[in-house]
Amino acid sequence: MAQVSLRNVTKIFSGNIKAVDNISLGIESKEFLVLVGPSGCGKSTTLRMIAGLEEPTTGKIYIGDKMVIGIPPKDRNIAMVFQNYALYPHMTVYENMAFALKLRRFSRSEISYRVKAAAEILSITKHLNKRPKVLSGGERQRVAVGRAIVRKPIVFLFDEPLSNLDAKLRIQMRTEINKLYTRLQTTMVYVTHDQVEAMTMGTRIAVMKDGLIDQVADPITLYNHPVNKFVAGFIGSPPMNFMNGIIVRKDGKLFFNGENFMVKLTDEMMNKLQPFCDKEVTFGLRPEDVHDKLFVQYASEDNTVKVTCEVVEPMGAEVYLYLSTGKHTLIARVGGHNKSVVNQEMDMVFDMSKAHFFDSKTEKAII
Ligand SMILES: Nc1ncnc2c1ncn2[C@@H]1O[C@H](COP(=O)(O)OP(=O)(O)O)[C@@H](O)[C@H]1O
Ligand SMILES: [Mg+2]
Repeated sequence: MAQVSLRNVTKIFSGNIKAVDNISLGIESKEFLVLVGPSGCGKSTTLRMIAGLEEPTTGKIYIGDKMVIGIPPKDRNIAMVFQNYALYPHMTVYENMAFALKLRRFSRSEISYRVKAAAEILSITKHLNKRPKVLSGGERQRVAVGRAIVRKPIVFLFDEPLSNLDAKLRIQMRTEINKLYTRLQTTMVYVTHDQVEAMTMGTRIAVMKDGLIDQVADPITLYNHPVNKFVAGFIGSPPMNFMNGIIVRKDGKLFFNGENFMVKLTDEMMNKLQPFCDKEVTFGLRPEDVHDKLFVQYASEDNTVKVTCEVVEPMGAEVYLYLSTGKHTLIARVGGHNKSVVNQEMDMVFDMSKAHFFDSKTEKAII
């Protein structure tokens, strides 16, 4: 199997649109790398350059040991699965899956063997003689994946393959692709705008924004140690709470002053935040780190904040509370047993050991 590497790759489209801005990224052999970011950030362009459907304006791309710039897609030994399936409507499922192998003049018996094996893996054997139009969206997507599998490529490229499916089917196909990865052990590069898909599928995730890669890390590192406010807000649902305020010193300790509340920083955070004393910072705290005082043992005046509950969203196992305090709004993710109601005044405890701080100007993580 093959590693993929992009070195200083830039793509400028006509009209001076810089879709990808000098990115460098190494993807290990047999790795499942997810490229995630909002619409228009350059994910598809990056994937299409790996596939050879677009050539970079500058930079180099390697698949295995081979520099592939100038090599046409069909000779790159990759297979790509698109959002819109791109199946041939006049062909049966079997013929769709066999097509690329026929073009490459594989023997009839080898084609039959590979198509049947792939159909078995994807549970579409009973559909082999049907046309795509009689299949459901999920079944069509399986055929599109099957068409990629039969080629036995050294790299699989997926461009938002699940976006056209309804929510339930999307979750099902997500686990199927995960299983497929475990089974095939092939390098996979998977593009999505959906951070949940990214977190649940990738061995590593590259977060893109405006043609740049902001951070590449495994899902938990990305969640716990985002390098900037964008990554912090993009990964996680409901998203991280952000509150602007000032770092102040009191009795030799540092506090975050949010105007109507003050919370104490942990001793471990003091060193890194010392230089920001009397300066504005953005305090970030994930919804699961905001607790109802009734249910915690470590409440003190240094970590407790008075809030008003504005919206209650019961999710079953948990409840999302939309809260306000002074100029700030925040979300708390509390247990399903929580009985808070709208307009209730509440005491919330911030787990300061989980606090994030960002430089308000550069938006880079301080801690
Ligand atoms: N063929 C093209 N010609 C001109 N601009 C393009 C072309 N393809 C993409 N773009 C632009 O490049 C940027 C990145 O697009 P794309 O890679 O498709 O983003 P994503 O897949 O992350 O949504 C967008 O601003 C898009 O409009
Ligand atoms: Mg795209």
